[in-house]
Amino acid sequence: MIEVNDLTKRFGDFTAVKGVSFRVGEGEILALLGPNGAGKTTTVRMLASILQPTSGSARVGGMDVVAEAREVRHFVGMLTELPGLYSRMKPLAYLDFFGELEGVPPSLRLERSRELLTLFGLWEYRHLALGHFSKGMRQKMALSRALIHNPKVLYLDEPTSALDPAGAKLVRDYIVSLGRAGHTAVVCTHNLAEAEALADKMAVIKEGQIVAFGSPEDLRKKLLGPPLYELQMVSLDGYLPLIQGLVKLESRQGDRVCFRALEPQRQNPLLLQRLVEAGAEVVSLSEVPYSLESVYLRIVENSSSGSS
Ligand SMILES: Nc1ncnc2c1ncn2[C@@H]1O[C@H](COP(=O)(O)OP(=O)(O)OP(=O)(O)O)[C@@H](O)[C@H]1O
Ligand SMILES: [Mg+2]
Repeated sequence: MIEVNDLTKRFGDFTAVKGVSFRVGEGEILALLGPNGAGKTTTVRMLASILQPTSGSARVGGMDVVAEAREVRHFVGMLTELPGLYSRMKPLAYLDFFGELEGVPPSLRLERSRELLTLFGLWEYRHLALGHFSKGMRQKMALSRALIHNPKVLYLDEPTSALDPAGAKLVRDYIVSLGRAGHTAVVCTHNLAEAEALADKMAVIKEGQIVAFGSPEDLRKKLLGPPLYELQMVSLDGYLPLIQGLVKLESRQGDRVCFRALEPQRQNPLLLQRLVEAGAEVVSLSEVPYSLESVYLRIVENSSSGSS
């Protein structure tokens, strides 16, 4: 659905996006992560035909973002980073206005507006001018605007940055449901848990280049190595050699050890069996959940993407 080839954007002497290439399939959700100023917003603006690339190309729904910019703009929905709303307008008039711009038939506009405002808990505020909306309410309004024409492709630049936890979850769940319904989305976010909850694929951008791409699971495997397990015993005394004979010990704290297993399906049951046979009392054996933050920090700190 989205094909990006060697996409580059220069602002004067400064190269904000340096030859980025990736693909997003239909119904897939891609999370774009990366430090401030990495080039995420610039990338999605080019993919929405709002900003013209300096070089390289991108196709969205088969359409070229430069040659068919107008068509692309109508085909996609975009939630910008700092959405401006018309402060004197009220929600329904606002959505009706953008619905009309996007060519939504009049009869559908009200129905769709009501649906979105209800979904985001804004229906009861429909008589209030947008200027009086809170920050989070504005973000939900801008999101409703991006969704008014039910676009096949969505670009959401930090869609939950102003939302409370319940609102953020609502929006995330909705994005996931859109993906299941066959919509494609690119979501810029600084929230790693969000990226993981939402995305089929993640791309980490640093200094205008993609330094990591893959599913959250792929990235973890690539960067953190084999999974870590924690074994808790009533008493570890005397059993350490047996454990070390089977798995790679990482750390020990009292009667608890952490180890890595390359083949956990084979090694972990064997370890338990041997321990039990030797008379050990095992309290628990569980995988230590990895932190996506540690993966992300490792990517961003270790990758050197060169200079422009
Ligand atoms: N119109 C512009 N003129 C000059 N420089 C620009 C322009 N737009 C963006 N930049 C620069 O391009 C770089 C990338 O900006 P961009 O907004 O894409 O970053 P980002 O990854 O979205 O960051 P953030 O996480 O802070 O939103 C920044 O250094 C920014 O200053
Ligand atoms: Mg940005």
